[in-house]
Amino acid sequence: MEPIASTLPGQAEMNVLQPISVQDGRVILIDQRQLPEKLEYFDATELSQMVFAIKEMVVRGAPAIGVAAAIGLAARAIQLAPECADTAEFIAQLKIAKNTLQDSRPTAVNLRWATEQVFALACSQPASAASVIANDMMKFAQNLIDDDIRINRSIGDNGAALLNDCLSVLTHCNAGALATCGWGTALGVIRSAVENGVKLTVYVDETRPRQQGARLTVWELQRDGITPTLITDSMAGYMMAKGKVDAVIVGADRIARNGDAANKIGTYSLAVLARAHEIPFYVAAPISTIDPLIATGAEIPIEERDPDEVLVISGQRIAAEGTRVENPAFDVTPAHLITAVITENGVLRAPYVKSITEALES
Ligand code: MRU
Repeated sequence: MEPIASTLPGQAEMNVLQPISVQDGRVILIDQRQLPEKLEYFDATELSQMVFAIKEMVVRGAPAIGVAAAIGLAARAIQLAPECADTAEFIAQLKIAKNTLQDSRPTAVNLRWATEQVFALACSQPASAASVIANDMMKFAQNLIDDDIRINRSIGDNGAALLNDCLSVLTHCNAGALATCGWGTALGVIRSAVENGVKLTVYVDETRPRQQGARLTVWELQRDGITPTLITDSMAGYMMAKGKVDAVIVGADRIARNGDAANKIGTYSLAVLARAHEIPFYVAAPISTIDPLIATGAEIPIEERDPDEVLVISGQRIAAEGTRVENPAFDVTPAHLITAVITENGVLRAPYVKSITEALES
């Protein structure tokens, strides 16, 4: 599926990133596969386009895929409304669409969280016409964009104080504006700290194999006037040993009730290194990334992606024919390696079973 125009009306002169938007009834995503070379947009109004966009990482990052899927489900509702004989058939069709969206990527719980909310709204008004329900769903789903930005700002405010005494911070993957609806979680904390006047050197891990750090995080921070320093994943230990990293901060795709946190592959290695060098290791995430249904990280499904992501770099095959590959897209950092989980409801610390339960209830 092809990207659409490189700029949208009114956006050329704006520095604000809108990874997900609805314009004239079309669902428009920044095509993150094209960055940093090109800022292009992808029309994901059709359900098949949205499923493709999530699977192929046109849109990516836990909060972003949740909101995109919720808007995708609402767009599907608007298409279905005139085609269904009655509300029961409409709800049955919506359920199929919701399940298809939820199956598109398995690890980030935000996908389930957001689509279940939009679906529950539809189920809560059985006496209404399908067209009325569909419009309500779209309004609700679009509001998730502003909610997400507000939540990220609170995460940023809550986390920034933790970086007051830091000269440098290391982040992994992309947990920024592109991975959310704007501002970001881990990058949001960095942005808020910089906004507060903290002078930070920001190290960015390349993040093999999809290079979200090199391609997306560097690009995002540079647009903000924050000049990051890019390193390969294998350099992190050396930089810590040299005393160049004062804190590590990452996002999360799913957090268990005991505080175990799934995030981009390589996060666990960083947490082990941070502990060995007595450096604080922070996870920044919205409460919606906590999965109340699972007790420990062992229950988090880990996505296995195409071997070619490992075997091929910039179109060039790097290993012999017949090479066996494993390509888990995420790993789980055990709670005992996490100094704190920064949420919009405050900074959570061990024992996480207690602090997470309280945060879920607040
Ligand atoms: O495979 P991706 O790029 O979707 O993985 C993204 C991450 O692991 C992020 O760190 C996580 O989703 C948090 S984004 C605020």
